[in-house]
Amino acid sequence: MDPKPKRKKGYQSPTGMHDILPPEQRYFQKIYGTCENIANFYGFQKIETPILEEAELFSKGIGLSTDIVEKQMYVFRTKGGDWLALRPEGTAPVVRAFLEHGMQNLPQPVKLWYFGPFFRYEHPQAGRFRQFHQFGFEVFGEQSAVIDAQIVQIFYNILKDLRLKKLIVEVNSIGDSQCRPYYKKLLVSYLKYRLDSLCSNCKRRVRENPLRTFDCKEEKCQRIKAQAPQIIDHLCEECHNHFREFLEFLDELDLPYSLNPYLVRGLDYYTKTVFEILEEGGPSKPALVGGGRFDNLCKVLGREVIPACGGAAGIERIIEAMRAKDKKYLKYPLPKIFLAQLGNLAKRKSIKLFEDFRQNKIPVAESFGRDSLKTQLTTADRIGAQITLILGQKEVLEGTIIIRDMKTGRQETIKLEKVVKEMKKRLKKIKPGTNSRINPNDTNIY
Ligand code: HAM
Repeated sequence: MDPKPKRKKGYQSPTGMHDILPPEQRYFQKIYGTCENIANFYGFQKIETPILEEAELFSKGIGLSTDIVEKQMYVFRTKGGDWLALRPEGTAPVVRAFLEHGMQNLPQPVKLWYFGPFFRYEHPQAGRFRQFHQFGFEVFGEQSAVIDAQIVQIFYNILKDLRLKKLIVEVNSIGDSQCRPYYKKLLVSYLKYRLDSLCSNCKRRVRENPLRTFDCKEEKCQRIKAQAPQIIDHLCEECHNHFREFLEFLDELDLPYSLNPYLVRGLDYYTKTVFEILEEGGPSKPALVGGGRFDNLCKVLGREVIPACGGAAGIERIIEAMRAKDKKYLKYPLPKIFLAQLGNLAKRKSIKLFEDFRQNKIPVAESFGRDSLKTQLTTADRIGAQITLILGQKEVLEGTIIIRDMKTGRQETIKLEKVVKEMKKRLKKIKPGTNSRINPNDTNIY
């Protein structure tokens, strides 16, 4: 290995990739729990696919001329000579797993959900990372637009359950293999006459993937886009009816949506419905959720045509939105009981008593590494414990323990063998959440 120049600082996480420190873990747990509840209600089953997949799965599935495949995939060759990629998204892997395990032979629809890390070599900026997390919901074997609406409803419900307000659902249809080629021709002939006014990227897009010109953020391209023919006016009858039904279901569900005729999404596998969910706040706000129907992907990656629809949400972006609403980190529920000990004999008894509490499912905090009672009481106070149990040499010899009410300072002594039962009784009287607060350890980190 080449000798490297001496580092000025210590090691840091790779650009665009972050440690998830304890304060953020609480958000991940909260989001995971919310997804799990919703998944159970709507009959989705959890699936986990490997972080690495054959690179070709994505180039075939997502499309060679998409930004994700062209610029953002982490691809490497293994010692055995296989080309693998860090997964940039979850739909192609879930389709691969669906086909590989013959799930098309199960009663349809098959509903799957996932939660995990994804990787895209992007230019890191607010809400855009190289390692990020998504949860996704995919439904296989159902072509009715009712599923498209239900998928939107699921993501909307999750965001609402996470107390995000002012959400915008943008919807569009990008047609299918019947109508999209015709529309593409129309669009290309419109753009061809305006090539000189387009940015260099869009000039290339006109040749390779004209719908992608709608994703361009350059002002001159936006101006041209505003006058471009809209796919919604050129859908075939089947796509038109599907889209109409989708909107009717959204109306029925009272989901506030707006039609964005330029929403095309950055992945090639979509057919008919596409949607995104954003927070209000102008174009600078990145999408929290994106998804749509992908009726051809099973055929592209396998043999059969299996209609499918789904979506995925960016967890870091959701956390950012949650934190913007409430600057404080989510609270940790902390134990209401603290076990303090004094002296070696008491310490020995305490670690055993601590296990008795665990077996009885009673959360207890401790600070066995500390010897001073004052320090332990300070810690008990800091975590907001309501009761501190104090075990000293004298108590151990007498087979007793002191119960200290942390609010009044009142102390009483009871038999050690009764303490677990007594705590169970007292906990019932303490209001839940009275001492949930930021984990005191967190303050050491931030
Ligand atoms: P996507 O729009 O590429 O769709 O990603 C979904 C969501 O992941 C985005 O709305 C965003 O919140 C988040 N996300 C994407 N890239 C990044 C990034 N670099 N940093 C942070 N967050 C990011 C898909 O991935 C499709 N597989 C969705 C889907 C599922 N369609 C059908 N089924």
